[in-house]
Amino acid sequence: MESCKYLSSNMIVLVPQAEIDAAVQLLLKLKVDYKQMTGQDYKAGCPPSENLIVSNNGPAADDCDGEDLVDPWNVSASSTKGVDYDKLIVRFGSSKIDKELLERIEKVSGQRAHHFLRRGIFFSHRDMHQILDAYEKHKSFYLYTGRGPSSEAMHVGHLIPFIFTKWLQDVFDIPLVIQMTDDEKYLWKDLTLEECHRFTVENAKDIIACGFDVNKTFIFSDLDYMGASPQFYRNVVKVQKHVTFNQVKGIFGFTDSDCIGKISFPAIQAAPSFSSSFPQIFGGKKDVPCLIPCAIDQDPYFRMTRDVAPRIGLLKPALLHSTFFPALQGAQTKMSASDPNSSIFLTDTPKQIKNKVNKHAFSGGKDTVEEHRKYGGNTEVDVSFLYLTFFLEDDEKLEKIKEDYTSGALLTGELKKILIETLQPMIAQHQERRKQVTDEMVQQFMTPRPLNFKF
Ligand code: TYM
Repeated sequence: MESCKYLSSNMIVLVPQAEIDAAVQLLLKLKVDYKQMTGQDYKAGCPPSENLIVSNNGPAADDCDGEDLVDPWNVSASSTKGVDYDKLIVRFGSSKIDKELLERIEKVSGQRAHHFLRRGIFFSHRDMHQILDAYEKHKSFYLYTGRGPSSEAMHVGHLIPFIFTKWLQDVFDIPLVIQMTDDEKYLWKDLTLEECHRFTVENAKDIIACGFDVNKTFIFSDLDYMGASPQFYRNVVKVQKHVTFNQVKGIFGFTDSDCIGKISFPAIQAAPSFSSSFPQIFGGKKDVPCLIPCAIDQDPYFRMTRDVAPRIGLLKPALLHSTFFPALQGAQTKMSASDPNSSIFLTDTPKQIKNKVNKHAFSGGKDTVEEHRKYGGNTEVDVSFLYLTFFLEDDEKLEKIKEDYTSGALLTGELKKILIETLQPMIAQHQERRKQVTDEMVQQFMTPRPLNFKF
């Protein structure tokens, strides 16, 4: 083992290099943790100031140990392989979903883990063990997720948290609240209130088409529910009182010229994390734990929420974070509704899907057939393959495709064909289910009411 000289008082001792490396790594991690908890850089001998700020991992923190930028509005990675999610776990201070947690989820739910979990698509969590501890003691929890209705059509990436949330609802048999942040989209986009509210209803149809159980699901528009629920609004103002402008600037990168609606909005996304915001469902109970499945871009909201929760006498929500469904152009950024060519929309026709994949899906193949046959393709950057990891449920088939593409036996055109043939029926079936969703059904899902659940 390599060793090096180390000066301690007046002595020279030999310390193995690996030990020094490990200590340096630990020190760096502790510094990052310190900054996440206090919002301040660590200085030896200087305790953090009284006025603690929550994790400063928003836009301002993107340069902390790499060039990846991940926040609710932007995702961009420095590598063609996409965001370095392991680094993000360290930077955000969350925990990896490891083998032990996967096995526990299987044991407690009595079900094989969803392929999003098995394949590391949901890769990070906060306090999931606590949720499972409670569930094992026959204490229910509830799910909370959401959508910012910025346009009529959602893209395939938006489906990821909803598909997974539906699985969680089915296996744990628990209630679910879905927040439609039409207020957020009004504040951030050049849209009227009426348009945002209309998009809420249109997007709710896509969400309902994922198969949620109406007896266990409450979907709400902020524009409607904020005014109708005194308990919800009380939680919003409690959060608002305990977060300073400095803190939200640190977390979200707001500036002095952002409108005040944006500055106070994070409290509105925080409020559904508390069961007391839904007295019609939880009968005024404050202590029903909440689990939030979402992509990791939403984490800044919930770092803030978790920081505030104990200070207002409420429970911290737990989280399950997913990776991003990449843009057609490559894993360096996520699929985004504002760039139509980057996305497959839930409204796309079979022909549009075929054209978009053939024309825009970034290929990890080689330039010529000869080279590809000789050297094989790279599945780590190939968007068609990455999409299949999300939607091709058959593990063996996926493994075979990987082998064949890597060896060069499978060509890019053939891989794209497999993806097209996977996406076309999937989207067509979604469209069929959406057609069955009537205005009355939307109304039912969106009416504040008691829900059925077993505990
Ligand atoms: P929005 O509408 O941007 O996104 C809705 C949900 O989809 C996730 N998401 C993605 N997941 C995988 N790959 C992608 N390319 C991708 N793009 C978006 C988001 O993480 C989110 O889970 N402010 C929120 C709405 C919201 C919310 C919540 C989301 C309110 N409360 C609680 C999650 C949990 C928004 O605008 O999401």
